[in-house]
Amino acid sequence: MLELKPEERAMLDGKRGKATRKAMEIITSLGEIYGAKRLIPVSSVQIAGVSYDNLGEPGLEFLSDMAVDGQVRVLTTLNPAGMDLEDWERHGISPDFAKNQERVVDAFAKMGVMTTCTCTPYLVGNLPHYGEHIAWAESSAVCFANSVIGARTNREGGPSALAAALTGVTAEYGFHLDENRVAEVKYEVRAILRGTDDFGLLGQVIGERTNKAIPFITGISKATTEDLKSLCASAATYGGIAMFHMEGITPSRTAIPEKTEVVSQEDLEKARGKLDDKGAEIDFISIGCPHASIGEIAQIATMLDGKTVKNGKTVWITTARPTKDLAVKMGYYDKIERSGAFLVSDACCAVAPLKGRFKGLMTDSAKACFYARGKNKFKTEIRPVEQCIREAVS
Ligand code: F3S
Repeated sequence: MLELKPEERAMLDGKRGKATRKAMEIITSLGEIYGAKRLIPVSSVQIAGVSYDNLGEPGLEFLSDMAVDGQVRVLTTLNPAGMDLEDWERHGISPDFAKNQERVVDAFAKMGVMTTCTCTPYLVGNLPHYGEHIAWAESSAVCFANSVIGARTNREGGPSALAAALTGVTAEYGFHLDENRVAEVKYEVRAILRGTDDFGLLGQVIGERTNKAIPFITGISKATTEDLKSLCASAATYGGIAMFHMEGITPSRTAIPEKTEVVSQEDLEKARGKLDDKGAEIDFISIGCPHASIGEIAQIATMLDGKTVKNGKTVWITTARPTKDLAVKMGYYDKIERSGAFLVSDACCAVAPLKGRFKGLMTDSAKACFYARGKNKFKTEIRPVEQCIREAVS
């Protein structure tokens, strides 16, 4: 039986406005479904379901209703939208789509949401600490928060994350509780991982084998933040994984499971083979899934400096707006854009309305391959970042 404190009861009774009541109804319904005993405060929220391409008119109506009197109570950031909010025309987005996308972002802004529009909120200031209770949507960020940071969040949906933002609480169940954060299967990695593409393939292999169980990964001596965000994105995409432990790298507090699986070099190559479509005609190259860090952008700017993107190819490097602003200051933006590539903020190749525009995508991201095939019907090839850039330029 879910017990409510007086302020929570007041929200549910509509004493804090209509949107807050609706939000509290969502939170308490979830609490009851999952057997929570109480609600707990959250310090940070990440909302997904922002692209008009995915939301459509019904989603926008829901948001507009909530925005009539809803106000966020905690730090709240936003997932990617369907377009760069300031530069959409140059990226081939239609004015009709832009108008609707702006209505979506305006509704969030009216509620006090920071319109960061990124799936890597932890790179731009929404960074919880170990053990902190948060309510995040966006499966890659959820996996990163639980695993790499050690914060605690369930895989929220768009409405439930917004509900947590408007009430400042979430129901205590799932990954908020110690007993649900214990590793269930050990994965011994006996392969050399060289970059974000390989870490994405590892996430794909483990995701496909694990089916939502929590992995304990061993055999990796070094992984960058960028490697880990790639792993998180594909483990979540291919296996619904919301959390893993990685020996020596994540702040693990878990017993090591006895059940052991091995991931070999051959397994990774098989996974690569699954994402490589034979004879794919590559006309689109996209890097930045999850959104690129400033370090990745610096490297790509160096690779593109003085080069020219080949005729017939479109190149997107996708990132958060604050990161793009920094890239402008550092001169990386100019180096990238002078080559003919685009540094796109606020959006990504999966949530932008790109269906029908391209035939084949080359990317370093296993997650991007999944959505390119499923949503946009593109052929795909997964390659290291350096090779993606080589493919793009003459
Ligand atoms: Fe982020 Fe879009 Fe990839 S939301 S994780 S860049 S599919």
